Amino acid sequence: MNIYQEAAKHIIDSRYCVAFTGAGISVESGIPPFRGRNGLWNKYDPRSFEIDYFLQNSARSWEIIRDIFYDLFGQVHPNTAHYALAEMEKRGLLKSVITQNIDNLHKDAGNKEVYEFHGSLKEIICLGCEQKVNVAQVDMNRLPPTCLMCGGLMKPDVVFFGEAIPKHAASRSIDAAQKADCMILIGTTGTVAPANMIPSRAKAGGTTIIEINPDPSEYTNRITDIFIRDNATKAMEHLMDAINELN
Ligand code: APR
Repeated sequence: MNIYQEAAKHIIDSRYCVAFTGAGISVESGIPPFRGRNGLWNKYDPRSFEIDYFLQNSARSWEIIRDIFYDLFGQVHPNTAHYALAEMEKRGLLKSVITQNIDNLHKDAGNKEVYEFHGSLKEIICLGCEQKVNVAQVDMNRLPPTCLMCGGLMKPDVVFFGEAIPKHAASRSIDAAQKADCMILIGTTGTVAPANMIPSRAKAGGTTIIEINPDPSEYTNRITDIFIRDNATKAMEHLMDAINELN
């Protein structure tokens, strides 16, 4: 049995399989990762994504966010790996996707149960009255955007460093990690807390951890049971082939 058949058997035999994804699953859609080769943090200072910096330099922070994320947002599309997870959910092989990504690509691919641990670029939120609007309504040439309801400062509805994780996403993700008997990690270094404790939480409960990554991560030698060393699209293609053979 090859590594894909082994992984496929665990997924098919599982009662509750979930996926945990990071920036790596979107690299082949054209979105650079944060770390590693051509990582965003090699070019931009992550401090501009700290909430305190944003509050003191909102125009500058918005310009950087626009250049890094919004120039791409809406221009990029899900790739084979995103669609494979949507197909797995459709077939009842996957209960949910817990993602650290803010690019909305899992929902674009068709997954219904998606817990966005770091929020999403799709909406912006008023820091005054918490009114949310679709980012399509923002004039990116007049930054920072202010709230039409109360005039307050608006920010992308994503988690800045120093901000709390959205309650709904946190509770659903922890619940999924506790229920999971199989978890597929795709494209994450596992370096950012508290998101990075989700796979460890699952492992502590006896979950089988399948990891897809071209390079080892913080998880590989610690909690990973099946390490598929490959890019997300190729790995998910082979995994789906193995699932189709067995199912
Ligand atoms: N397929 C699969 N994995 C890939 C690919 C690919 N084609 N290319 C790169 N990777 C892997 C890298 O080996 C690395 O392990 O994706 C991972 C990207 O790591 P990070 O950029 O650190 O992304 P992530 O783990 O999601 O970062 C977590 O950090 O800055 C914060 O909020 C940000 O959500 C992000 C969090």
